Amino acid sequence: MLLSPTACAIMMLLEMILAAVLGTIIYLFLTKKKEEVLPMGDGWWAAGQKPDSEADTTIRPFKVVTSEEEIKDLHQRLDKARFVEPLEDSYFHYGFNGTYLKKIVSYWRNQFNWKKQVEILNQFPQFKTKIEGIDVHFLHIKPPHLSEGQSAKPLLMIHGWPGSVYEMYKIIPLLTDPANHGLNGDHVFEMICPSIPGFGFSEAPHKKGFNPMCAARVFYKLMLKLGFHKFYIQGGDYGSLICTNMAQIAPRHVKGIHINIVFLSTISFKQLLSILLGQYFPKLFGFQAEEIQKIFPFKKKVLYRIIRESGYLHLQATKPDTVGCGLYDSPVGLAAYILEKFSRWTDPSFKNLEDGGLEKKFTLDDLLTNIMIYWASGCVVSSMRFYKELFWKGIGVEKHETFPVEVPTGIATFPNEVLYIPRSWVQKKYVNIVSFNFMPRGGHFAAFEEPELLAADILQFVDKVEKAAFVQ
Ligand SMILES: *[C@@H]1O[C@H](CO)[C@@H](O)[C@H](O)[C@H]1NC(C)=O
Repeated sequence: MLLSPTACAIMMLLEMILAAVLGTIIYLFLTKKKEEVLPMGDGWWAAGQKPDSEADTTIRPFKVVTSEEEIKDLHQRLDKARFVEPLEDSYFHYGFNGTYLKKIVSYWRNQFNWKKQVEILNQFPQFKTKIEGIDVHFLHIKPPHLSEGQSAKPLLMIHGWPGSVYEMYKIIPLLTDPANHGLNGDHVFEMICPSIPGFGFSEAPHKKGFNPMCAARVFYKLMLKLGFHKFYIQGGDYGSLICTNMAQIAPRHVKGIHINIVFLSTISFKQLLSILLGQYFPKLFGFQAEEIQKIFPFKKKVLYRIIRESGYLHLQATKPDTVGCGLYDSPVGLAAYILEKFSRWTDPSFKNLEDGGLEKKFTLDDLLTNIMIYWASGCVVSSMRFYKELFWKGIGVEKHETFPVEVPTGIATFPNEVLYIPRSWVQKKYVNIVSFNFMPRGGHFAAFEEPELLAADILQFVDKVEKAAFVQ
């Protein structure tokens, strides 16, 4: 068959279009493959200029220490404290109750034993090592025993604000020795719990710009330095953000990520619509039955709660050093500022209680130990600056905010958590959710408040990931 010149031209054109389409598809496919890993960048956070070679690569044992001087100075400040008189019938509605604060300070001054708590802090092996120019503090706990043929799985657990590694002290024994604590002993962990730079006994960055992505990179380097190439990661609050960034920059090293809060910083038109209409058409928007009563009515359950609980965030994301002046100088102000979060984020209804419900779930010794970590290390301002750095460029503008997390993901949702994101939204970013559980009780500080529940959820998650890997 002979083709006319016009038909020939059309055929050629079609072939060219086909080639272009195929080429584009192949190109998109190849670039998509390349996109799997988010570039991690690099950083240097010591004061002054970066030297030619990073001199100190050692890992040094570390112990928390205190002195008579430190305690005397603290007591003098506590003795001089001036307390706010609460309004009648206000309980914790206006923030921390001044009358209750007075009781806490009296306990702190007369009964709390910092020397004893320092010994408790030192019960787990701790180390410091320089990464990107600053000292990173971490706990490293090996299982006390392993059964025949069993090997420990490395697990990095990351705290948040206003917490510290002390949040993990009750969950560490459960995960390094689960069988002896009534938990499933199939998986046993070797745990690494670092202090975020600028928190507790990690050195604070001396330069601007240290954000959760930088912390993710620093902790990834830490794990490699310790010889761990395949590991699990877990976190709530900032820990969740940092773990997410780690999974994005080092997916081949992260076997699984378990988080007990999810943050999303972008919202699609459909999601916006679902806020308006989801209550009436839950199935259409992919809401689960449990979710409806967590999200709706939206104003009351989500919006107002976020507004009520996020004032601190705005402050810290804009002018951390201003409010920081008072908190850095006054242990009483510091305690009120931080402990209010432990009350309200553990259970919002605690605001109606005389003592903010603080002693319902925690002991004063435990709460004050966390405060003392902030006080003794003088880290409160640098910990608040972390918010400034997080929002430095704005919201929804950084690549990692929409970049998918492809490693196996476990999510534990505690009922009193400050923020709840519907599963259908979560799985747009965390595309490989293997476990998603509504927990029976607990709030924001899950590891500190409900260590058994959190440990059990981590164990079942890891079990699922290991079994799936075995099948493959
Ligand atoms: C907190 O303040 C209210 C006054 O609004 C008071 O009735 C309540 O007992 C206070 N809490 C304590 C522990 O005194």
